[in-house]
Amino acid sequence: MLRRQKNCRHETHPLENEVPREGHYLAALAQCFLVNMRAIMKQENPKRILLGITGGIAAYKAAELVRLLAKQGYAVQVAMTQAATQFITPTTLQALSGHPVLTDQWDAAANGMAHIESGRAADAIVIAPATADFLAKLAHGLADDLLSTLCLARDCPLLVAPAMNTQMWANPATQRNLAQLAADGVSILGPASGELACGETGMGRMLEATELAAGIVAHFQPKLLAGVNLLMTAGPTYEAIDAVRGITNRSSGKMGYAIAQAAREMGATVTLVSGPVALTAPVGVERIPVETALEMADAVNRRAARADIFIGVAAVADYRPATPNEQKIKKSDAPLSVALIPNPDILASIASLPNAPFCVGFAAESEKLHEYAQAKRRAKRLPLLAANLAQTAIGADDNELILFDDDGEHLLPRADKLTLARVLLAHLARLYRKGRLA
Ligand SMILES: Cc1cc2nc3c(=O)[nH]c(=O)nc-3n(C[C@H](O)[C@H](O)[C@H](O)COP(=O)(O)O)c2cc1C
Repeated sequence: MLRRQKNCRHETHPLENEVPREGHYLAALAQCFLVNMRAIMKQENPKRILLGITGGIAAYKAAELVRLLAKQGYAVQVAMTQAATQFITPTTLQALSGHPVLTDQWDAAANGMAHIESGRAADAIVIAPATADFLAKLAHGLADDLLSTLCLARDCPLLVAPAMNTQMWANPATQRNLAQLAADGVSILGPASGELACGETGMGRMLEATELAAGIVAHFQPKLLAGVNLLMTAGPTYEAIDAVRGITNRSSGKMGYAIAQAAREMGATVTLVSGPVALTAPVGVERIPVETALEMADAVNRRAARADIFIGVAAVADYRPATPNEQKIKKSDAPLSVALIPNPDILASIASLPNAPFCVGFAAESEKLHEYAQAKRRAKRLPLLAANLAQTAIGADDNELILFDDDGEHLLPRADKLTLARVLLAHLARLYRKGRLA
């Protein structure tokens, strides 16, 4: 039974048509979720980053990092050391960030207090690249230029992305400094091992801009799923008819991949069993590529015992050709029938295990969304099911969801899929913790 929500204004919503009697309650719920979503976004997406660039070859990657952060809605203020300006010009970073770059603590235009003001306005300071020299200064609390002073005078989190030659990285002095910074609560992003600008190969390569951007975003997410093993599926499956033809569906995998990313950001260890999609795996997520429903079922079954949570987002083909042809079927004028047999129901089989993980299902329906979704949740005894209209969800960058659980229905109004994934997972995390305490 849906209850009236206090302080929530009524507004018309497309999914109201699905349940004429309860439509106004759903609209009220939609408004409440909108408020929650905004709150989540505000809390999880700090808007102001002070990006400090120090004097290493990897400074060129900082330009791409500014672009990626700006694209995700962050306001980026860049500050550079004098050495950094030898590697990349402030002009480039000013153009990308849209703000004049801070380089000089004696600059009169910065009202003489830039060393404190700029850091105070930030939700986080990120140093990328962080030279061995700058890490040493941070570890010892030196403040002999604008950027090091900003760091010392900050009242926000500090993240550093070391970048240096392998010997510099391995030097006990550098390692001592890093240990000190970690003990001081500084987050250290990377480095990676690989080919370095000096021609050597080894530890010290700065993470790529996409990895850094993901790490920065993840840093601010509430760790609601810390310590949780999350197993999930995404994308379509492909069932061969013959050597070149097959049955599949229009699932792009975007919703599933957004959930994988959001779960990783919330601290979960994520294993993503994925059908064929044109997406790259989110940073830090283990992807198991599969093609058919049988392969997907096998990959999930092998990992189910270790999973605390299982989310079935994949649009698994319900049927597969009974006897796929090894060779291409030759065209003829005669009608062709393909006998189909049912595929295993992955979600139902995992949900019915003796020690089943907390199972979440997805329902994509083209009609009677409420009726079919509720029937699916009941039949599979799922604590939580997310339903969406196939016509508007599949392949799109945004979506709207209705969550069904023991408390009723919760409408998540249209938003981009990552935003929806975060709200869905926050809801899931509450139910999961509640279930564990019960
Ligand atoms: C061509 C060149 C490349 C350099 N690359 C790096 C590097 O990748 N990492 C590093 O820690 N230092 C590197 N250095 C040394 C730093 O630029 C030097 O220690 C400088 O004083 C750092 O100043 P800052 O920490 O104030 O930016 C490089 C120097 C040169 C000349």
